Amino acid sequence: MPQIDELVLEPPFNVTRASHVVLNVRDLEVSKRFYTDLIGLVVSDEDASSVYLRGLEERGHHSLVLKKASDTHCARIGMRVCRDDDIYKAEDYFAAQGKETRIVEVPFQGLTLHVSDHVGVPLEFCASMDACERMLKNYQHYRGASAQRLDHYQLQTSDVRQAWSFYQPLGFRVSEYTWSQVEDNQHLWGVWLQRKGNPHDIVFTQGPGPRLHHFAYTLPDTNDMIRACDVAGALGYAPQLERGPGRHGISGALFVYFRDPDGHRIELFNTHYQHIDIEPALGWNLADPKRADQWGLPAQNKWFTEATPFANVPVIQPETPIDPPTLERFLALANDG
Ligand SMILES: [Fe+2]
Repeated sequence: MPQIDELVLEPPFNVTRASHVVLNVRDLEVSKRFYTDLIGLVVSDEDASSVYLRGLEERGHHSLVLKKASDTHCARIGMRVCRDDDIYKAEDYFAAQGKETRIVEVPFQGLTLHVSDHVGVPLEFCASMDACERMLKNYQHYRGASAQRLDHYQLQTSDVRQAWSFYQPLGFRVSEYTWSQVEDNQHLWGVWLQRKGNPHDIVFTQGPGPRLHHFAYTLPDTNDMIRACDVAGALGYAPQLERGPGRHGISGALFVYFRDPDGHRIELFNTHYQHIDIEPALGWNLADPKRADQWGLPAQNKWFTEATPFANVPVIQPETPIDPPTLERFLALANDG
């Protein structure tokens, strides 16, 4: 098993960033209203079964795909690779590991590969997308939170180290991590992994999983976070404001979390730092309350316990408990909310 700071600088293929998330929703119109009126995303295309949305600064056709379904699972999360050649290299790489791979046709996307990671997360590696107009300067179309671009995913998994062991050889770097003391060992509780040069593209924390805890969009300004809360209140989405605004310890971002009409969790945030130079990862003791929120505001219990399962992927409970003092502190913080 590699060490937390061990880097793969020449990975077998070139993943560039977190790209898009595909969510099952029960009512496309209801969900579309939430993501356009409150979050501020732009509809790139839609039909009777799907809505394709993008952030205001995105040229790629979609960063969020809503699929009409009778369930509310996450279908898949997407990672962008640099070129078609990277898809073929990825296919060879995963096939050599004995993983099931499939090149698939996906509307508005170029060459696309389906594979699951070591903890069962269904991934979609995509080499290109149809290009749309970048709406960055079309301020007349800004509404709600004015979400700019998809930045990252956070997932729960029963085995963080196992999840990390899939992404580390692909060149993902740990910017920050959390640990808890379990007997004589520092137990790895969470890893913040990145390819694009800021703190994270994908995060794994310990919990029943795999489940999608949230996906996150950037905002143009801090004011847009307050505006999002005001618009939520005005449009009747206030009960879906789950946490924040607040200031993370890890990554240092200002944040607010909403639950969409099907319970999928979206984070809106700003102010991530660069993580480009080779430098040691920053470790946090899980018992440090400033890890999650610098201002000390507690999260609601459901923020810790509820998440979106993946379609057709069983949810596994973690085997390693966190140490009792930390657990006590952790639950106290959660239940205060
Ligand atoms: Fe996040």
